[in-house]
Amino acid sequence: MLEYIKTRRSIRQFARNDVDDKTVEEIIEMGTWAPSGLNNQPWKFVVIRDRGVLNTIAQLTRYTPILENAPVCIAVFLDTALSYHREKDIQAIGACIQNMLLTIHYKKLGAVWLGEILKNSKQVEQILEVPETLELMAVVALGHPGEKREPGNRKPAAECIIARK
Ligand SMILES: Cc1cc2nc3c(=O)[nH]c(=O)nc-3n(C[C@H](O)[C@H](O)[C@H](O)COP(=O)(O)O)c2cc1C
Repeated sequence: MLEYIKTRRSIRQFARNDVDDKTVEEIIEMGTWAPSGLNNQPWKFVVIRDRGVLNTIAQLTRYTPILENAPVCIAVFLDTALSYHREKDIQAIGACIQNMLLTIHYKKLGAVWLGEILKNSKQVEQILEVPETLELMAVVALGHPGEKREPGNRKPAAECIIARK
């Protein structure tokens, strides 16, 4: 598991091959195994494959080519009707997305967490025709990797630990 955490990279270019529905559902299921406050599971998902929809949404971020070339995207929402504490609910959704990214990596697929598109979240919500209670948290673009990435880098943990008491 430690190896999977360390070797995951954001993949922004995809091969043409599709990702089947069963695989996408399994990825989402693994997302839902994330912890959440009071186990409230405040997430909802929209699976987007329609090229017209993806191309329209692609115009709402400066990462247009990623969405135009991904075979499938998962829009991740906070369901405010299930929310009990906004900060904690958003943290749970972050954990859910990370679970999905690690599952994708485990399955030798690739993905990127898209957050920049949140500047136009209202428009995305309208295009996807989601209920009023849903608030866009991220779009995960995924597919078979069309690029090979070098290992990532991180600050040494020792630099992030500010005290031992
Ligand atoms: C909250 C969040 C928002 C992000 N938004 C974007 C984005 O809009 N576009 C993009 O290309 N990558 C986005 N990323 C991916 C980061 O750029 C990437 O995770 C980071 O540079 C580390 O690289 P790695 O994932 O390969 O380890 C986002 C990541 C997070 C966690």
